[in-house]
Parts: sequence; C-alpha cells; structure tokens
Amino acid sequence: MSEVVERWGSRRAFIIAVTGAAVGLGNIWRFPWMVGENGGSVFLLLYVAFVLLLGLPVMVAEILIGRAGRRTPMQALAFLAQEAGGSRHWRLLGLLGGITLFLILSFYAVVSGWSLEYLVDAFSGDFASRSPQEIGAAFDAFLASPGRVIINQTLFMVLTMSVVAFGVGSGLERLNNLLMPLLYLLLVVLVGYAATTTGFGTALRWLFWPDPQAITFMVVLNAMGHAFFTLAVGAGALMAYGAYMPEGQSVPRAVVTVALLDILVALLAGIAIFSIVFSQGMDPASGPGLMFVTLPVAFSQLPGGALWLGSFFILLLIATWTSSINLAEPMVAMLHSAGLRRVTSALLIGSGVWLVGLPSALSFSWLSDVQPIGGMTFFDLATTIPTDILLPVGGLLIAFFAVWVMDAPRAVQALSSNERFFVIWRQVTRWIAIPLLTLVLVGAMF
Ligand code: PHE
Repeated sequence: MSEVVERWGSRRAFIIAVTGAAVGLGNIWRFPWMVGENGGSVFLLLYVAFVLLLGLPVMVAEILIGRAGRRTPMQALAFLAQEAGGSRHWRLLGLLGGITLFLILSFYAVVSGWSLEYLVDAFSGDFASRSPQEIGAAFDAFLASPGRVIINQTLFMVLTMSVVAFGVGSGLERLNNLLMPLLYLLLVVLVGYAATTTGFGTALRWLFWPDPQAITFMVVLNAMGHAFFTLAVGAGALMAYGAYMPEGQSVPRAVVTVALLDILVALLAGIAIFSIVFSQGMDPASGPGLMFVTLPVAFSQLPGGALWLGSFFILLLIATWTSSINLAEPMVAMLHSAGLRRVTSALLIGSGVWLVGLPSALSFSWLSDVQPIGGMTFFDLATTIPTDILLPVGGLLIAFFAVWVMDAPRAVQALSSNERFFVIWRQVTRWIAIPLLTLVLVGAMF
C-alpha cells in the first residue's frame, strides 16, 4: 500500500485537470436533455441547489480523502480507515466507485462516438442544405446503423485508453487548457445567436421562471443524480486526482472554481439549445438526441456554419476526452497498484468497458425492443442507474467517511485551508448534505 509519487505539475494543473473531468457531455449533452425531459425550470433550479448543497461538500470530501491517503481510492480508504481505528472494509467503497465509473464510461464512449461521427459530418457542410426535420431524421438513421455507431465507440475508447495507458497529467491537459476557453467562447457566440431568434424569450422563461407544479419525485432524483454526474463526484474519480495534488494548494478554492464554471457552461448550453428548440417549434423532451439535432440546425443558420459546427464538435470531443480519461484513471490505477503494468491495465479495462457498452450502442438498432426493466433499453439503464443511484450512494458514503470516520486533524491538514472553513464544511456536510442525500435516496426506494 505505498503512496503514489506522481504530482500535478502546478496548482493550475490540478484545477485544469478537475475542470477537464467535470466539463463534458454532462454539461452540453446530458443537461439540456434532462432539463427538457423534466419540464424546465424546476429541474434547473434543483440542479443548481444540489450542486451547491451536496455537490460541493462531497467534492471537498472526495478530494480530501485522495489527498490525505495519497493512494489509489481503495487503498486510500483502507489506510485512512485503519489509521482512525475503523474497518478496512471501507475499501469496498473504492470498489463500488470503480464499478460505477466502469458503467458510466461504457455509455460515455458510445455518446462521445456520436460526436466523433458528427465532427466529420459537420465539416462536410452537409447540414447547411438540410431542414430541421431532415437533420432529425438523419440522426435517427445514424443511431439505427450499428456498424457506424460501434466504429465510433471503438475509436473513442482507443483515444481514451491510449492516454490513460501512459499516465495522465501531461500533454492532453495542456491541450485542454488551451482549447477549453475556445469552447466557452463558442457557447457565448451561440447564445448571442440564440438571442436573435424568436425562441429566446420563451427559452429564458421556460428555463428560469419557477413552475412549482412541475416538481415530482423523479425530477428531484434526476436533478440530484445529474449534479453528481456533472461534477464527476461520487465514484472516487476525483479521489484519484486528489492523490496527485501538490502540497499547499487549497482544496476549497479549487472546488468552488470548478463548480461555478460547470454551472456556467451548462446554463450557456441550455439557453442556446432551448432558444433553438422554441424557435423551430421542436419538442423540448426530444431525448438524448436533443443536442445532435438542435446544434446543427443553429449553426447552419450562421455564415460559415460548417466551420463553426465542426470546430464546436472538435472542442466537445476534447471536453469529453478529458472526462473519459478521468473516468478510466481510477480503475487503471487500481489494477496497476495491484501489480499489473499500466498498459496491460488500460487494455483490460478498455476492452471490458467497450464490451459492456455494446448493448448501449445497439439500443437504437438491433436491441431497441429489448427492455429488461420497466420499459427501459440498455442505454436507458446505463445512463440512469449509475448516475441517479450509484453516484449519490457513493457520494453519501464518501461524505460520511470524511466527516465521521477519518481523523479530524488529518482532514484539516489535507484541506490546506483555514480551520474555520473546515468547521463550516464539516457542519454543512454532517447536518445538511448527508441528511438531504439520505432523504432523497430513501424516498427513491419507495
Ligand atoms: N463530469 C463528466 C461530464 O459532465 C462525467 C463524469 C462523471 C466524469 C463521473 C468523471 C466521473 O461529462
């Protein structure tokens, strides 16, 4: 159980890596889709509230454990538990996280593959001459062709694993740092365009004007799961990154920066996408294809649309790439620490995830009629269960571990912040985050 020796090159490098993990499909693809399915403003407000009340405290807990343990998640948990006189079995929490990440990555690679396909299509300029209906039909036709979907899924898996195999922290993070501001800029341009469309006002009202009647228990659960997903919290992924954190860097400051940026990107994407939805008379609840239909429609209206759209998909690809690397890293690090070579670990995890992702990839074609539970396809199950159930359960246990099990002096030291922040964080986690999380999860069982 030796300590890891790797460190991020600088404080900024850590923040960049965590932002890279957080900002991804969750913000640009999943958020608008979820807002649409869950009736708009109520989901959005709940999501923001959950990010602030649950996401932030749990994110602090998770990074703190990684940094205090300076080991891979399972080992860090076992080490810190033993040090505090607790049970070694806490390491099973690391395993639960590994399983969660495995399942998330399985569908993440499929959807990232869709954007790979769109990257090529976008530059070809095909979208410009098509009507919104034709663009929608083309997306459905693409999903219904197993070969194309699987080729892209495979390609994305290879991209991810070839970075993880050689250790994270170098080239790609720098690229990410350079290019992510461009993605934000493109989103701002899109929102600027959206402001000129007829749907802009409706979109703003629908997104921000609270409509209490839309609250149902499912909306609450979905919003909570999404808050964890988008912050990359609840499965030890950030625990693994925290282990490489340099001495002296303040955890709270890093975490607040990342969370605010994450909310901002989601809001920009939401405003842009729903303005288009309402100006084109589309259905907000169009499901996982929402982004893939609205964005080509929007960009095709701009001069030089093919170039804009193509650039957007390149930037999105980089955003999803850095997230998928974070999804894979803890699993690979765990196998590696068990004695396998990094390359072998990456190969094993990569093939396993790819295989388990196949049913999701085929859920819109050969397996569209296979609905194992409650009318849900494999894709629906893969996108729901790890996100809405496993991440919150993992987050609850991580928070519990950090505030009730771990040695307090250890935690204070690992935070690299003042004592006062520690006390506030611990009170909020103990008396707000943990009870609230438990309440929603228990409610979900009924
Ligand atoms: N936060 C990432 C996104 O929004 C997904 C993710 C989830 C990454 C869990 C790591 C761990 O796309």
